[in-house]
Amino acid sequence: MAKKIVAGNWKMNKNLQEGIALAKELTEVVKNPNCDVIIGTPFIHLASVAEVIKGSCIQLSAENCANKASGAYTGEVSAEMVKSTGAEYVILGHSERREYYAETPEILKEKVELALANGLKVIFCIGESLEEREANKQNEVVKAELAGSVFHLSAEQWKNIIIAYEPIWAIGTGKTATADQAEEIHAYIRSCVAEVYGAEAAAETSILYGGSCKASNAPELFAKPDIDGGLIGGASLKAADFKGIIDAWG
Ligand code: PGA
Repeated sequence: MAKKIVAGNWKMNKNLQEGIALAKELTEVVKNPNCDVIIGTPFIHLASVAEVIKGSCIQLSAENCANKASGAYTGEVSAEMVKSTGAEYVILGHSERREYYAETPEILKEKVELALANGLKVIFCIGESLEEREANKQNEVVKAELAGSVFHLSAEQWKNIIIAYEPIWAIGTGKTATADQAEEIHAYIRSCVAEVYGAEAAAETSILYGGSCKASNAPELFAKPDIDGGLIGGASLKAADFKGIIDAWG
């Protein structure tokens, strides 16, 4: 069985003090969850938040890392640096990074490899645009995104990959995929994983849904057999909202 996970993606929100306060609040309200709980924060928060959540059930993720190991890359943050803060995960392939920062499948492949080589687990995001969904190309798109950046990994490396399916048209729009729409493509994604890594590995791969997921729609989404949790943007910025989604796992 795949691990159940609720992961937050703060994106470029919260200054350091606000981020620390939110992490602290989460350690107070999230007790004995029925799923893994991860928060993805900006780089500058990582070391401080790692201290705040120490000993709690909350785990830490970066939202990006460099596609180079080290050296003269002004402004970049390496996977090794991320790991040294205490973070255990990194979100890669988010549609915002692909679109606004021109991250290609090749660049993402390099990032994934460096993250894994430095002992980070990767939350790898895939998902189609509205135009692609309207042209019924969503399956083709997600398969190509997987093939382009992660399907070359060994079976051993694959154990450290979590997939987040995030239809771009549902991110921050308030427009969630219906639970049936999400389940259909999650099942397809799992079948793609099975083709490469086998049925057992596919069954153990966590596939999260992201895109306007909130406490009110999480129970219906999480009830689907191929939806193993959520990657949460907007609703991860308030402890009560985020807890509401975690509680959807009963
Ligand atoms: P949202 O973002 O929950 O605000 O739609 C999800 C994401 O982009 O990870």
